[in-house]
Amino acid sequence: KVIPMEMHKIKIVQQTFLPAIEERIEAIQSAGFNTFLLKSHNLFLDMLTDSGTNAMSDNQQSAMLLSDDAYAGSESFYKLEEAVQDIFGLKYVIPAHQGRACEHLIAKVFVKPGTYVITNYHFTTTKAHIRLCGGEVIELIGDEGRITNSHCPFKGNMDVLELRKTIEKLGKERINSIRMEATTNLIGGQPFSMQNLKEVRKIANEYGIMMVMDCSLISENAYFIKTREPGFEDKTIKEIIREMIEQVDMVYMSARKSAMARGGLIATNHQRIFNEILPNVPVYEGFITYGGMSTKEIESIAVGMYEMVDLNIAGSGAEFIRFFANRLIEYGVPVVTPPGGLGCHIDASKFLPNIPWNEYPAGALAAAVYIISGCRGMERGSLSMDREADGEEEQSDMELLRLAVPRRTFTMSQLEFLADRISWLYNHRDLIQGLKWVEEPPVLRFFIGRLESI
Ligand code: F0G
Repeated sequence: KVIPMEMHKIKIVQQTFLPAIEERIEAIQSAGFNTFLLKSHNLFLDMLTDSGTNAMSDNQQSAMLLSDDAYAGSESFYKLEEAVQDIFGLKYVIPAHQGRACEHLIAKVFVKPGTYVITNYHFTTTKAHIRLCGGEVIELIGDEGRITNSHCPFKGNMDVLELRKTIEKLGKERINSIRMEATTNLIGGQPFSMQNLKEVRKIANEYGIMMVMDCSLISENAYFIKTREPGFEDKTIKEIIREMIEQVDMVYMSARKSAMARGGLIATNHQRIFNEILPNVPVYEGFITYGGMSTKEIESIAVGMYEMVDLNIAGSGAEFIRFFANRLIEYGVPVVTPPGGLGCHIDASKFLPNIPWNEYPAGALAAAVYIISGCRGMERGSLSMDREADGEEEQSDMELLRLAVPRRTFTMSQLEFLADRISWLYNHRDLIQGLKWVEEPPVLRFFIGRLESI
């Protein structure tokens, strides 16, 4: 039996409450059965996301007090630049207010109408920005990635045979970049291996295609490489991250996840890439030394970059998630295996086999879990997919309810409580019905759309 150990102690706490069942039912109804529209005071455990919800360290908090509020040339930015150069080994750093802002800047510069981004798997905001610039996304995740229940250690791997075929078929001119997401969020925070990344790099080199890595969850991907890929046991997280980054031309990250801060950044060693993106920063984000972030945020990222390469921190989320997923498995609840890097994912199509995909089983399950526990997760299935250009619904590969486990935030007894409530719900799953739209926004509809029970 593996018990995850917190290598930190709690110094400051925030009080949380468990609202009465009647209040929870009323809250989810007025939120249009969308957990994004619940208010924080209606919640016991907020497991919507691990984005911007991680507990900061004393070192991060104290660095924030030292921030230099200069509009241009802030000392805080140079600290961040130094941290990125040290941890990532990348010279040019562009700040942006969060991950999707980086995606916006990159898409704006590199995605031309009619071109493609080949990726291991899309992320919601990435795809939206690529499409808004007239491009399209092609996903080449390996077959194992689409199977919820598996023993494959690297379900985030790209299918390299398909990669070559796709480039040959479309012509390399129509592919603006190859994007690797470390770890692949939507299929359950699944990592790719170093070997796979190197194989992809080799093909990209042959055809002269730019490679981009989404580093939002990089320390977890590096942790899985260290613990699952032969030959990496004795390397440090920092060494593994460096080796990953050496394979690509540009990285970007939401600093709200692995780095346990807020904000985002793009980094590269190519002056040409830097020069092309940089003029867009003052237009869309803010001056080039703050990029829409507060200087306090910038300080906390600089410290967070060092913390995320500490083995005890890089693995802390992943080990908690494994503990939680294993408990649910003991209770017979269908979850994504192997457990991934940002949360525990329940397979809603197995939990609720009678609810068809276009009645959003994972959305219905998210609402039901909130009602029975006061805890909120996030739908990661067909509800999170936008419609095709012709208005048709797009079916997701998986119908998942994600229960994110923010780093350093929850205790094991809180996870035990939730696992117990979900086990009760699993035994009473006939109570759950599907959902239909009441208000459906045209893009990224899952964020603010409203639904009702069928
Ligand atoms: N890339 C990945 C892999 C992400 O997980 C996210 C955010 C982004 C980009 C966008 O970054 O939120 O800072 O603008 N994921 C959050 C989540 C929203 O809940 O999974 P952002």
